Amino acid sequence: MTSFAYRGDLQRGCLWARLFAERMPAIDFRVVSELEGDVDATVHYLGTWAPLADYSRFPSLKVIFALGAGVDQFDLSLVPPGVALVRLEEPGIVGMMQDYATLAVMALHRDLPIYLEQQRRGAWSPEAVLPAARRRVGILGLGQMGAAVAARLTALGFSCSGWSRTPKALPDVRCHAGNSALGTFLAESEILVCLLPLTAATRGFLNAALFAALPTGASLVNMGRGGHLRFDDLVAAFDRGQLAGAVLDVFEPEPPPPGHPVWSHQRILLTPHVGSVTNPESAIEAVIANIARHRAGEPMRGEIDRLKGY
Ligand code: NDP
Ligand code: OXD
Repeated sequence: MTSFAYRGDLQRGCLWARLFAERMPAIDFRVVSELEGDVDATVHYLGTWAPLADYSRFPSLKVIFALGAGVDQFDLSLVPPGVALVRLEEPGIVGMMQDYATLAVMALHRDLPIYLEQQRRGAWSPEAVLPAARRRVGILGLGQMGAAVAARLTALGFSCSGWSRTPKALPDVRCHAGNSALGTFLAESEILVCLLPLTAATRGFLNAALFAALPTGASLVNMGRGGHLRFDDLVAAFDRGQLAGAVLDVFEPEPPPPGHPVWSHQRILLTPHVGSVTNPESAIEAVIANIARHRAGEPMRGEIDRLKGY
């Protein structure tokens, strides 16, 4: 018998159980707790958002399905050798990220943080309005999310460029790659959208030096991870007039502690990590397709490269 162990919220676990029963009845699906349970050698697949402290309870484990797109919560050195870590690549989470990026970029493009602050003090003072075609949006990361966000924003008329580690070619998007192209890319990014994974190479990437390389009055959307941002550098960039606004969907820590300046900064719109929320109804397709690939000895989609860290 082959089992899929799910570790997480019980209500969502029941939904995953129903979907597995409908779509892949040959797999024995069970909801497990991290803290209780005997050694179980039938478990080949584990679905979880967070890493387990110890995997020895599942000696036949072959694949960990991270139930999200980012895997920075996993310490890859603690994932047992020979066990694959696979993230979600599926249209449901991508579509939600496109929606959120649209909301955030539009809010900054049309000066929403400024008008919210004006409203609070009873002021009526229009800013100059630019057509979308004259607003240059730069997207850090052109993977599953970055490429889809670029496509959505381009369709809305924005002038988009993107930056990635390796070269890309995307319709109507000026694509830059590698550290040597970063300065050129930043200089043309009036609204910068971070969709990088959090790795050793990208922690603290949104810092004073990066902000200084953006056009004066630029804005930031961080929908990657809180660890990308140096918050004090962001505040200093606002104080210098280098940046005009920011939309932050992620923060470190989440939630920020009570009284933290991010809660009340007038140039920041803060949301509680809701850019995308995994929906089992759409995610099930990606998971069962990968189980089928694994059983057929084929490469799975979204397998993490331990050297790259994403
Ligand atoms: P992908 O792995 O598909 O894409 C990552 C992109 O970043 C790639 O284009 C990659 O370049 C680029 N990249 C990685 N490291 C570097 C680097 N050092 N320098 C330059 N470019 C780099 O990830 P996704 O698009 O699926 O997701 C991105 C992130 O979005 C997730 O890791 C997660 O943190 C975040 N996320 C946030 C959510 C939210 O609710 N706010 C929801 C889902 C995801 P290359 O293509 O050359 O490898
Ligand atoms: C993800 C997230 O990585 O929701 O999927 O942040």
